[in-house]
Amino acid sequence: MFINRRKELEELRRAAEMFRNGNPVPIAIVGLRRIGKTELIQKFREERMDILMPYLNIQGSVSSPEIFVQDFYISILEEVAANRNLSIQKAGSKKEVIISLSSALGDDFRRHSISFIQTIDSGDYNEMLKAAFRAPEEIAQFLKTKFIVCIDEFQDLEELNNFRFGDIFKIMRSICEKQKNSTYFVSGSVISFMEKLLKSPNEPFFNQFRQMSLSCFTKEDSFEMIKQLLSGIEIDEKEVLLIFKYTLGHPFYITAVCERIYLETDGAANEVLVNYAAVKETVDKNGKINLLFKYIFEESLKKAKRKGHLRTILLNIADQEGLTLTRIAESIKKPTGQVSNYMKSLLRTDIIFEHEKKYYFRDPLFRFWIAKTQLGKDIVLERDTMSADDYIRDLKEKYLRASTELGRAAETEAAFYLEKKFDIELGRYLKGNIEFDLVGEKDDRPYIFEIKWKTKAAGYSDIRKFLEKVKRSEFAGQNPELFILSRSGLTEQAENFAVKNKIHVLNPLVK
Ligand SMILES: Nc1ncnc2c1ncn2[C@@H]1O[C@H](COP(=O)(O)OP(=O)(O)O)[C@@H](O)[C@H]1O
Ligand SMILES: [Mg+2]
Repeated sequence: MFINRRKELEELRRAAEMFRNGNPVPIAIVGLRRIGKTELIQKFREERMDILMPYLNIQGSVSSPEIFVQDFYISILEEVAANRNLSIQKAGSKKEVIISLSSALGDDFRRHSISFIQTIDSGDYNEMLKAAFRAPEEIAQFLKTKFIVCIDEFQDLEELNNFRFGDIFKIMRSICEKQKNSTYFVSGSVISFMEKLLKSPNEPFFNQFRQMSLSCFTKEDSFEMIKQLLSGIEIDEKEVLLIFKYTLGHPFYITAVCERIYLETDGAANEVLVNYAAVKETVDKNGKINLLFKYIFEESLKKAKRKGHLRTILLNIADQEGLTLTRIAESIKKPTGQVSNYMKSLLRTDIIFEHEKKYYFRDPLFRFWIAKTQLGKDIVLERDTMSADDYIRDLKEKYLRASTELGRAAETEAAFYLEKKFDIELGRYLKGNIEFDLVGEKDDRPYIFEIKWKTKAAGYSDIRKFLEKVKRSEFAGQNPELFILSRSGLTEQAENFAVKNKIHVLNPLVK
């Protein structure tokens, strides 16, 4: 099963097309862990025709430069072999694999690999890394083909810098930047690190890659995925929506929750079961989401010092998001200078991010996990005792509500109710530089909805901007019905102005 990602696949296709025409377009796919980066890369690789696409997940390859360069090289040979439908026994050491693969591929390969192995045997890390990064281009030239080398979990290359031969990214850049017959599609799940690597002017890869951010699924895609995963099981739209809300459209979370429902259902999935499945997967010691979070947490703090303080700070932010440095310093009774250093190492872990000098979790479900398991304590959840209820109440009312992701989830939820209310199909609208939250058509008239999720009441200028946007849009002459829905209501002035301009003011959703 592969759901959507049409836009992303199209972008990768266009990049490949430009590369074919002589202009390499390196791409970095960046997104949370388990959001679907590998799936996307593999899906794209299925379509490959004239361009070869070696694939290497380097997570298991960065324990030393020798291992990395050999795995890198083998991935290229394997791709050529696969392209020729050769299946070659791979036994023995990595060097033996290189020799048997390259011998099977012909003289050019054998010669190339002998010189490559000699470079490795020299023991010079710097030289062997250069040789590895030269390999795709050299092989592409004698094969008269092109390579898009796919490197998964690219940020892990940084590990190699522990070997003190220089900077791996600088070396890679110096070799790859002028290559015409090979380019790179990489993925990265440590968002803060990837963004620094790609966007900071001091970094060797500054402005070298086009960044593609992979985010959670929309409501529509999530619904499709949930329905496929639960096919054969009786489930109402309301419960499907609930699964979407708990998982925020994250494909791995959706999979985990649906699997749990499937395992425990008697043929139907009601609200009680959905609630239980969501909580069980997230906090129970055998839940898939719990195991993922535990792993992320342990990995993230592996290299950090002062773990005790970092844990306390995480618990504090989990309890109350949007804390400032001063507040955190007060609560752990440490000077702000010291806490500022702790915050820097927490930001490096990618678990939290900073916005306007306040700290937030990247993933609201992870925040819930931290608070409930107190950072990984084993919880055992039984189905028949109603212990899931407390968790669900908190999850709904505290953790999902406040999150920025929820802004989006809430918007799609609003769409869901508005569609029902007006018996109309609604979707986001973006044409040129005009964007509307929701647009549909009914009785030959456009229906346009402006949705505000601010915690502040919508004001006069919000309404004025909305009207101006409508005037500039293709709907201007079509007598559109206009609506505004604001979570925190409207100021009196805004409300009067809206009514005067025939904008319907909708009440925020009451649940
Ligand atoms: N487009 C998709 N369609 C269907 N399932 C998906 C999709 N993307 C991700 N998934 C599900 O989420 C899981 C995690 O995706 P993966 O690509 O391994 O994440 P990442 O590489 O970002 O860590 C997959 O095993 C799969 O079950
Ligand atoms: Mg992956």
